[in-house]
Amino acid sequence: MSQPCIRNLKKNIGEEVSLSGWGWNIRGSGKVQFLQFRDGTGFVQVVAGASDISSEEFDLLRSLGQESSVKIKGKVVENAKSPIGVEIVASKIELISNTKNYPISPKEHGTDFLMDNRHLWIRSPRQQAILRIRHNITKSIRNYFDELDFTLIDAPIFTPNECEGSSTLFSTDYFGENAFLSQSGQLYMEAACAAFGKAYCFGPTFRAENSNTRRHLTEFWMVEPEVAYMDLEGDMELAEGLILRIVRDVLKTCPNELAIIERSLEPLQIVAEAKSFPRISYSDAVQILKNAGENFEWGDDFGGAHETIICSQFKLPVIVHNYPSSIKPFYMKQASVQSGEPQTVKNMDILAPEGYGEIIGGGERESDLEILKNAMAKQKLNEKDYEWYLDLRRYGSIPHAGFGLGLERAVSWICGLSHVRETGAFPRLPKRLRP
Ligand code: 4AD
Ligand code: MG
Repeated sequence: MSQPCIRNLKKNIGEEVSLSGWGWNIRGSGKVQFLQFRDGTGFVQVVAGASDISSEEFDLLRSLGQESSVKIKGKVVENAKSPIGVEIVASKIELISNTKNYPISPKEHGTDFLMDNRHLWIRSPRQQAILRIRHNITKSIRNYFDELDFTLIDAPIFTPNECEGSSTLFSTDYFGENAFLSQSGQLYMEAACAAFGKAYCFGPTFRAENSNTRRHLTEFWMVEPEVAYMDLEGDMELAEGLILRIVRDVLKTCPNELAIIERSLEPLQIVAEAKSFPRISYSDAVQILKNAGENFEWGDDFGGAHETIICSQFKLPVIVHNYPSSIKPFYMKQASVQSGEPQTVKNMDILAPEGYGEIIGGGERESDLEILKNAMAKQKLNEKDYEWYLDLRRYGSIPHAGFGLGLERAVSWICGLSHVRETGAFPRLPKRLRP
């Protein structure tokens, strides 16, 4: 007897199969029971008539608690009403472990309660759909860079240097020395691109930012490509291609998951059909804010609410480039400006549509040793800590560029979620370290 997974059950129509999993929900009468059954790959309805199974099995089904583990044998039959096109007519039910009082019933629960029970909540159809979409986005990201001949280079998590500003560093004792949890693998990718030409890292990064917003996690995954001899224009094209690849792949591979979470597809289809994304300068973005009646001065940094206003003007992701140097990290390449004009950098942020805001940050890196040293001094960084990084400008310095895409921000937008907390199985937020 075949042991298929529910996800692919349509291939087994007419066959007797054996499934191992959990009972999600049970209802029925004295004559027939309907069990919503899941095996981790999907959900299927099991129909058990009183005459199809023994009376012990039938009674067992009637007393089955939600999330009891059971094995089922039965025939796969077509059912047009089922989301997966089939159901199972049971011939045998075997109890592995009966569950009583499963905390998450089908009724409504508050967010805090569900987050406290996240280890169980991830069994529910909506959470499974989101996490499976995340899985597919990760796959698209890897395929995109691998197919472009990038080499995956894993960056360390323990680091001696800051990358994105000292105010968001988690520090830890490293045998008597201070080590930080990595804010970004970028500095290491700059070394990697000088070795491999095209490199990327994809792993967890950390920000000790006590921001309780719908966009901020303290631990999040970031993919960071870095390319030798690439300029800002090339960087924008690489990032644009990545977003297009992700959206097109998800529409193709996850139609069921998108339906389960009731994601409106039209905004994603508009993106999938685009050839390129609009590009505006920081100054243009400031003008958009002023036109919207915001009290915003050139030189200020955008907050989440500002980004929402800017990106809401576009149906596509919008690339905002050339921010003021004063609000950006030391490593960004100084743009050439007319004398008397404020200094900007050759950077870009990409803001997702539908109000989601920044999902990508990146740009060209300063390749001139002296300019870089000056920028570091201005930001009060200790040059000694960055000797290895400065070596990259001493030995075969090159123009180069890269960016970071926050995985959870991308998942949040693509799934149309109201908060990043549902984008990962066990999210870390300022007020959430457990489970
Ligand atoms: O803009 P950020 O800080 O850029 C960097 O870290 C660069 N060193 C990346 C690079 O050029 N290699 O972060 C990049 C992205 C953001 O656009 C956002 O998507 C995500 O990382 N991100 C966060 N996601 C969730 N929670 C947070 N607290 C985040 N901070 C940044
Ligand atoms: Mg940023």
